[in-house]
Amino acid sequence: MLRSAVLILLLACALHAQRPKTNYDEAKVKPYRLPDLLGTARSSADWTPQRRSEILRQFEDHVYGRTPGGRVPMTPNTIASGETPDGMGTWKLVRLDFGASIPALETLLVSPKTSSYARVPVFVTLSFTPVHTLLPDKSIPLTTRWVRGDKPATEADRGTATGRWPWPLLLGNGFAVAVAYYGDLFEDRAEGLANSVIPGVEKQLMAGTPRQEATAWNAIGAWAWGMSRMQDLVEQEPRIDARRSVLVGHSRLGKTSLWAGAADERFGIVVSNNSGEGGASLARRNFGEHVADLNKAFPHWFTGNYKKYSSDPKEMPVDTHQLLALVAPRPVYVASAQEDHWADPRGEFLALEAASPAFELFGIPSLRGASWPGVNQPIVRGRQGYHVRTGKHDINAYDWQQYIAFARRMWGDQ
Ligand code: GCU
Repeated sequence: MLRSAVLILLLACALHAQRPKTNYDEAKVKPYRLPDLLGTARSSADWTPQRRSEILRQFEDHVYGRTPGGRVPMTPNTIASGETPDGMGTWKLVRLDFGASIPALETLLVSPKTSSYARVPVFVTLSFTPVHTLLPDKSIPLTTRWVRGDKPATEADRGTATGRWPWPLLLGNGFAVAVAYYGDLFEDRAEGLANSVIPGVEKQLMAGTPRQEATAWNAIGAWAWGMSRMQDLVEQEPRIDARRSVLVGHSRLGKTSLWAGAADERFGIVVSNNSGEGGASLARRNFGEHVADLNKAFPHWFTGNYKKYSSDPKEMPVDTHQLLALVAPRPVYVASAQEDHWADPRGEFLALEAASPAFELFGIPSLRGASWPGVNQPIVRGRQGYHVRTGKHDINAYDWQQYIAFARRMWGDQ
């Protein structure tokens, strides 16, 4: 009895030791040293493929997990279509079918009726809420999948998420949008693996090799896999210029867009919106959320090995400047929100700045040495862009405006 009480106490102490107090005081940020970015790379030829692959493998093995290589067959089936309420666009709901053992991914493809682009650029993105919340149209079937908060979908949900999807702004600027519900890929809960795309994909692509939890893909890997399937879809759309795909994600889906954009080089531009810990912000900077917080609240997001870094992120062989560098030489944009202390806005900027040497290898001007810009003062150097806007953790019209402006600038359209 006494022995088990002592054991419980020891366990409680160990768990407590793993969760440092959240620091929100810049003066209390401890000094840290980032892992070397370039290694022995001295030119773009040393970076791709050699150094780039080494870093990518480390992120697979220690952070996001290995996604099985190869393709599963995919059939796009249009199940509904219509016009946006503003009359500026048309939409179609395309169910991406992968056969009986892999759940389908419903992708809403919204296109501008008119655009200054002969072939239109496209935002590729995931939503926290099902596709029937993105447009108030009764012909979009209510999802039958799990929904956050464990409530079944209802008619009243239709069109309720349009605040995050400012259609007139996106369509008016001539952009198409491909958006899918992240819950189709992996239900965002600890027990989500069984209903996710993972078992079916592993069955088809891993030829019976057992899953190794230490390095296996999880929710973020599954969501990122879905983003790549959406890129496959837009590549088949004659009106879309799939090389001009802009990958955008907010928060946990911002972590996902960085991972998807790092791993899949077909995405033209990669955007992280308020992605925070496990996304853009530096793990070694003790400000806001900690690796331990992620592992405790969301054990299903990252790979098994990531749990090892709860007590000390300095043990991790990588940090997020390297993740952002994996996007190079493609453009990357990081956005923070002033009141989003949990995500460590300054840490997000510092990671982007520290990714600069990778861009310089390609002869691209960089953000090296730039200081954290003021609120609502976006900064763009070469192919790195950043803003911190007023307000809370969210993605809003201001953020989208910056992504449109950044993309245009990268394409020489303004
Ligand atoms: C939590 C989590 C963050 C995450 C956020 C979100 O706050 O701790 O890491 O980014 O949820 O996805 O909304």
